Amino acid sequence: MSPRLKVAVVISGGGSNLKALIDAAARPDAAFAVTHVFSNRPDAGGLAHAAAAGIPATVIDHKAFASRDAFDAALDAALRAAGPDIVALAGFMRILTAGFIDSWQGRMTNIHPSLLPLYKGLHPHRQALEAGANMHGCTVHWVTPGVDEGPIIAQAEVPILPGDTEETLQARTLTEEHKLYARALTMIANGEAKYPSTAG
Ligand code: GRF
Repeated sequence: MSPRLKVAVVISGGGSNLKALIDAAARPDAAFAVTHVFSNRPDAGGLAHAAAAGIPATVIDHKAFASRDAFDAALDAALRAAGPDIVALAGFMRILTAGFIDSWQGRMTNIHPSLLPLYKGLHPHRQALEAGANMHGCTVHWVTPGVDEGPIIAQAEVPILPGDTEETLQARTLTEEHKLYARALTMIANGEAKYPSTAG
């Protein structure tokens, strides 16, 4: 069996996607391993999931840095020291600088709760409801300098039901997210998903 893909997960909040990745990686046939967790917030609930699984975690508090560049440089150095194959952003709520993204291009992924390119940015569930859509979903994509614009790796659809609110739609979408990210990382591990050379 080929060595597992080493994944560093970067979070800012509750970490339900992180937990789902940790659980998926615990399967004997998993093609990836969560080898390190990073957070820009010391109070991120997801850090407890890393501790419970015995996975090393590093907090780089963005409030301790005078500039976005300084924070990104610290995160970059810590990631390089950890040496992952893939950096998986999961509920990481900071916009990274173009320089940082360029240095991890083709090795960094993100999950966004919409069927990109629809409803990029903040409040995607509200955007979908306000647009009167009847289908929604989530996307795992490669990270490029444009927010939520990178090449798509995998998507999952979620129906919008009568009476749906932002909260009910978010909950239904999160359930799909928890399956989709592991599927996308497995596709990368198996060579099914590669960063497109045309993506620059
Ligand atoms: C998820 O919906 C993710 O797609 C978005 O932020 C939410 C965070 O969820 N970027 P969690 O922290 O993984 O629970």
